[in-house]
Amino acid sequence: MKLWKGRFQKEPDPKTNDFNSSISVDSRMARQDILGSVAHAKMLGEQGIIAPEESEKLQAGLLDILRDIESGTLPIDPDAEDIHTFVEGELTARLGDTGKRLHTARSRNDQVALDARLYLRDVCGELVPQLRALIRVLARRALEHADAVMPGYTHMQRAQPVTFGHHLLAYCEMLLRDVSRFEDAQKRMDVLPLGAGALAGTTYPLDRQRTAELLGFSQVSRNSLDAVSDRDFCAELAFCAALTMTHLSRLCEELVLWCSWEFRFIELDDAFCTGSSIMPQKKNPDLAELIRGKSGRVFGDLMGILTMLKGLPLAYNKDMQEDKEAVFDALDTLKLCLTPLIPMLETLTVRREALRAAAAGGFINATDCADYLVAQKGVPFRDAYRITGELVARCIQLGETLETLPLAEYQALCPLFDEGVYSAIDLDRCVAGRTAVGGPAPDNVRREARRVLDELEESA
Ligand code: ARG
Repeated sequence: MKLWKGRFQKEPDPKTNDFNSSISVDSRMARQDILGSVAHAKMLGEQGIIAPEESEKLQAGLLDILRDIESGTLPIDPDAEDIHTFVEGELTARLGDTGKRLHTARSRNDQVALDARLYLRDVCGELVPQLRALIRVLARRALEHADAVMPGYTHMQRAQPVTFGHHLLAYCEMLLRDVSRFEDAQKRMDVLPLGAGALAGTTYPLDRQRTAELLGFSQVSRNSLDAVSDRDFCAELAFCAALTMTHLSRLCEELVLWCSWEFRFIELDDAFCTGSSIMPQKKNPDLAELIRGKSGRVFGDLMGILTMLKGLPLAYNKDMQEDKEAVFDALDTLKLCLTPLIPMLETLTVRREALRAAAAGGFINATDCADYLVAQKGVPFRDAYRITGELVARCIQLGETLETLPLAEYQALCPLFDEGVYSAIDLDRCVAGRTAVGGPAPDNVRREARRVLDELEESA
């Protein structure tokens, strides 16, 4: 039976009930719905809007329902219209007329806006520590491989030397920004919408500050129309999740590449790979691929929310019921991806010798060779650049690298070269010399990794 039965002469078409209902999506907010109602009932009692004894009864009855739902003794009716109706219906079944007083000075429109904020606040409370755990693992592995020289790439071509630790710390930076974006979104979400009523507030003497205090909000909404029609927080959290997924997807793309036999930079632990049904030799990085793949659905969730909102007149419209499925999916998916990713990074083996071999083979010290001519021989950079390009071409012709090319070959192209060039292009020196802040010198990488770990420690 519907709460709003009075106005209608017919029962709703039974075939439309599933379409209209949101219980399958919003039943997960049962706890927040009930705690929001407890605070509302308490404030109503304190303000004398309902009798104090009835307020007490409502609060106790609501907490009983919460206990019964969480212990599994009260199953949620899958045919209910939504979680708000279900809880109120159950309360009235248990308390009779007292139960009917709960919805005084409230609408489902401000109620659902409240529940979503409370629920999403709790989700962020679990998600952000998980993101921090991921950053921690990356920083620890970076510390461990601060001096493992590898090629850095541009255009997927070997470019200049970096270290494996430096590469991992790039992801720490991205993810630290993600954490701060989630924290920032949470600050804007920290506003109580309850009291906005259906759209125009209420004539009852509410104490909204008191409700806010009871529910741990630092502010109350300042415009009733905005309070019930604002879903910016859903869009913002979906964006935070989408951008984080972009970062995870890029990292996973690299893991997939790195564990291919073309690279063999890393070996994933068997526990995080799968085999093939036909090819006995296969060890596939399915989990990394799935994380990369799941980013798409999170972008879809964000697009869905933005598109749903863009044409809505003020204030509440039923379209907005679509917000929850999308934002829940975005955050669920992100959480789901973090679970295998953290141990996968923790257990992967870094094949340092393969990193070193790739670094040695790609002329990634060519810039350093040109810089040697500039710094030690006073050659203008553009000339040094051309000479080194010719040296590289000569190496390719002879099947040599800059390290193995005889000095006579160097001097044939530019008589200023001497033995000193070999130490100038030594890979370890090339990396160690990049000491300005943000550079890949192993000492920098160690310092930055420790800074990241300290920051995580402080905010834990
Ligand atoms: N299930 C609805 C939602 O999620 C609750 C609000 C319904 N309000 C209304 N007037 N139909 O948005």
